Order: sequence, then structure tokens, then C-alpha cells
Amino acid sequence: MPENLYQIQWFPGHMAKTRRLIKESLPLVDAVMQLLDARIPRSSQNPEIQSIIENKPNIVLLNKSDVADPQSTRAWIEHFAKCGIKAIPVDCKKGVGIDKIIPAARELLSDKIKLWQQKGMGNRPIRLMVVGIPNVGKSTFINRIARANKAKTADRPGVTRGNQWFSLGKGGEVLDTPGVLWPKFDDEQAGKNLAYTGAIKDAIIDIEGLAAQLLGELKDGGKTGFVERYKLNALKNFNPDDKQGYDLLELIARKRGMLISGGELDTERAAVMVLDEFRAGLLGRITLEMPD
Ligand code: G4P
Repeated sequence: MPENLYQIQWFPGHMAKTRRLIKESLPLVDAVMQLLDARIPRSSQNPEIQSIIENKPNIVLLNKSDVADPQSTRAWIEHFAKCGIKAIPVDCKKGVGIDKIIPAARELLSDKIKLWQQKGMGNRPIRLMVVGIPNVGKSTFINRIARANKAKTADRPGVTRGNQWFSLGKGGEVLDTPGVLWPKFDDEQAGKNLAYTGAIKDAIIDIEGLAAQLLGELKDGGKTGFVERYKLNALKNFNPDDKQGYDLLELIARKRGMLISGGELDTERAAVMVLDEFRAGLLGRITLEMPD
């Protein structure tokens, strides 16, 4: 499994530019929203996030919570709380959880808000920016709130020309440009998790190997929604524990009648289907990693 695929897109110059762009936006905002994938909150976190956002207060948004396991998401929320970070489960596609952001930000910034009130600026909106690795849902988030708030707030004096702000409900605004962070390069499991969830593009990886590894991991983790989905139980003497990931992929191809000329199993087609269906949550709501 090539775990360094992202390095093709992210080289040191690129990373320095990212750092600089985020640094330029930081003075414009009161807090940062770190968008993570709720199925892989560890793997989808930028390895240098703390040094990038410096001491800006931050909130974690666990996105795609619609396809993550709710109990695991609760465990992650507790984990972040122990680290002093408020984490909110969201589904940016449907807009679930977005209304929780401003109350959480007000709590996070309560001291600052008190100062604003003392200065007669109690109505000043909280300004936020969103950061996250590719495909975690940053554009979906921005589009969602942009749609809900067609009237963009105007550019302000002192703010770089071109910056637009979208209203995030009562008392909050979000910078229109998200910070695109690089993912972890040197952690093999993180690389796999990013590939399973679709953060790494399929065109450049071994789809069959990936689907087989995913099936093996799901089986080992007791996440056997795929057995029901593909009706593998109907196979004679089927016991998932006897099977390796690739055997499972072959069985799925057979069960779905996926054949190529000559009657050979079309495991590539099966692999594409398994990955698509996993990502869409059709094999169950599955979280791939738990807090330590
Ligand atoms: P990015 O800007 O951070 O790079 O990510 P982007 O918003 O483009 O989202 C990447 C993919 O994640 C998109 O799927 C998007 O629909 C999906 N997504 C974003 N938020 C959520 C969510 O809360 N739940 C679920 N289930 N999916 C989410 P895609 O397959 O690339 O596009 P599409 O087929 O959905 O249009």
C-alpha cells in the first residue's frame, strides 16, 4: 500500500505556502474550526495543526458523522473534551449540527466576548475560519452556509480585499476561503484509512488490494455489515473467520454475478462497488479508529 501518495501533491514549498496562507487569515478570525472526518478523526488530522493555528482557540467539527458509528463519535467527543477541545458532530451535506457551532464558539470565547461587551461591542459577530485536509468536506460546509445566507456580508475595512464572509446564523461569520491542510504522510495506517474513506483518489491506487484490505480489517474488527449487504451468509458453510480479505472480495464478486469473459471473477468491479458502498455508509455506519 503506497502510503506516500499525498507527497506527490504536497512538497515542502506547497506546505510552506499553505502555512503562510493560513497565517495571513488567522488575524482576521477569533477561532478556527478544524474539520475532521468522523470515521477517522486521527488519520484525517494534519500532523502540525497546533503549530499552524498557533494559539488561536479552536473547535473540532467531526464531519460525515452520518456515516460514522454514533457510539464511536461519542467516544471521540469525550476524548477531545479531555484534551480541552470542544468537538461537534456534523453532517455538512444535510446541514446537521451546524447550529451548534456558534453557541460552542461563544462559550469558547466567553472571556473575549465579555471584553467586547465592556467596550460596547457586544454585538460584534464571532469570526471563524475552516481548515482541513482535502476531501474532508470544507467546500460542502462553505457551500451549505453560503446557500443558506445568500446575502454575503460586505468586505470590511482592514480586511484584505476579496475576503468574503458568510453568516453562520446569529452572531457568527465564516471566512469564505478554507485552509487546505496536508494529511499525514508517514503513518501507514493513516494512509490506508484515508484511501478507504476516499480522501486519496482511486485512479492512482490498487483498487482490488485496497478493497481486500478494507474487507479484512472490517472482518477483524467485527464490523460485518458487508456479510448481510452481500448476503454472504447464504453461501454454503460460510464463516468469515476462515476468510482473508481477498477471498471475501471474490465471494462478493461471485454473489453479485460479476464476471469477465471466460467466466473469471471481475474482482476489480467488485472492489469499486465495495469501496463506493463503504464510503456511502451502505455497509453500516463505521468508524475505523478509536481514541487511544
Ligand atoms: P473539501 O472541500 O474539503 O476538499 O471536500 P468537499 O466539500 O469537496 O467534500 C468531499 C466529499 O465529501 C464530497 O463527496 C462531499 O459530498 C462529501 N461530504 C462532505 N460532507 C459530507 C457529510 O457530512 N456527509 C457525507 N456523507 N459526505 C460528505 P463527493 O463524492 O466528492 O461528491 P458528491 O458525490 O457528494 O457530490
